[in-house]
Amino acid sequence: MAETRKASVRALAKLNLGLAVLYKRPDGFHELRTVFQTVSLADRLDLEFTPSRKPAVEIEANIAIPGENLIAKAARMFFEQAGIRGALRVKLTKKVPMGGGLGGGSSDAAAILLALPALARKRVAEDLLFAIAGRIGSDVPFFLMGGTALGAGRGEELYPLPDLRAPNVLIVAPGVHVATAEAFRTLARPEFTELTPDALAHKMGRFRSLGRSLSGSGEWTSFCANDFEEAVFERYPLIQSVQRTLHKLGARPARMSGSGSALFGVFSSPGTRDKASASLSDSFPGVQVTHVRFVSRRQYRAQWLGALAAHAAPGVWPPQAR
Ligand code: C5P
Repeated sequence: MAETRKASVRALAKLNLGLAVLYKRPDGFHELRTVFQTVSLADRLDLEFTPSRKPAVEIEANIAIPGENLIAKAARMFFEQAGIRGALRVKLTKKVPMGGGLGGGSSDAAAILLALPALARKRVAEDLLFAIAGRIGSDVPFFLMGGTALGAGRGEELYPLPDLRAPNVLIVAPGVHVATAEAFRTLARPEFTELTPDALAHKMGRFRSLGRSLSGSGEWTSFCANDFEEAVFERYPLIQSVQRTLHKLGARPARMSGSGSALFGVFSSPGTRDKASASLSDSFPGVQVTHVRFVSRRQYRAQWLGALAAHAAPGVWPPQAR
């Protein structure tokens, strides 16, 4: 009987500190520029892997997951494409709000791709993991990297940026489920496709200012913008009023993440953060307010090394370039 190997891992959420949607491409996806940032809010995955000839995936979750479960997709694609077979059991404890633009499902999928090579004790090239991740979803590759990163293309083309420190951040989830594909469709309406060369140049210029301030040590908070806000706020006025309140309470920036519905606010001190947290909970009883901090790439890697220490043989894990 083959040995069962276990690990408990945390799949962190992300924020989009800035998000520019440039144009719709011939493949139907939108060309993006974004800055991703991992934060300390996370799902927990308890994994059990048993080598076997017949691949199998079993998932038990603390809440119902609507649509396709990206954990099952990640495991299936990994077994097919990495030439490794086994039975995987996953107990998922979901803490990252779903449909919030926080990348919870994508992070869960990346967690499977990061953990399986260690649990299977097989060397898997990093570029194969990135290729599988990109086929699962546009945000999945970022979670193989973590920290602060610039995303281009569909979001899968990644460039690491220097660490950003932000210990006093609030994530506010209004409990509205925004479907990503639908949010992109809304953006295709004529009033949101400012595709004149001037408008595109303006959008690129604003995003470049964010990139420049993040790659130097400039003040970045005033350059954050999210092209989904206008369309999503029009449909869900509650999200806009939460954003205005966050801003009034001192958050800089106060922005939506991804295609929403979650917002984030960066505060300059624990005091202003805690006051804002109490005030938001009072003013908007249905919303979920969570304190988080930014997690750097080094902290992200250290967390993964710690979680997989029992299985991470040298040369096998972490995955390396070919
Ligand atoms: O890549 P992912 O599966 O997360 O994307 C979900 C949907 O969002 C896609 O099917 C597409 O409609 C839309 N999308 C897009 N442009 C992107 C990313 C996603 O149009 N860059």
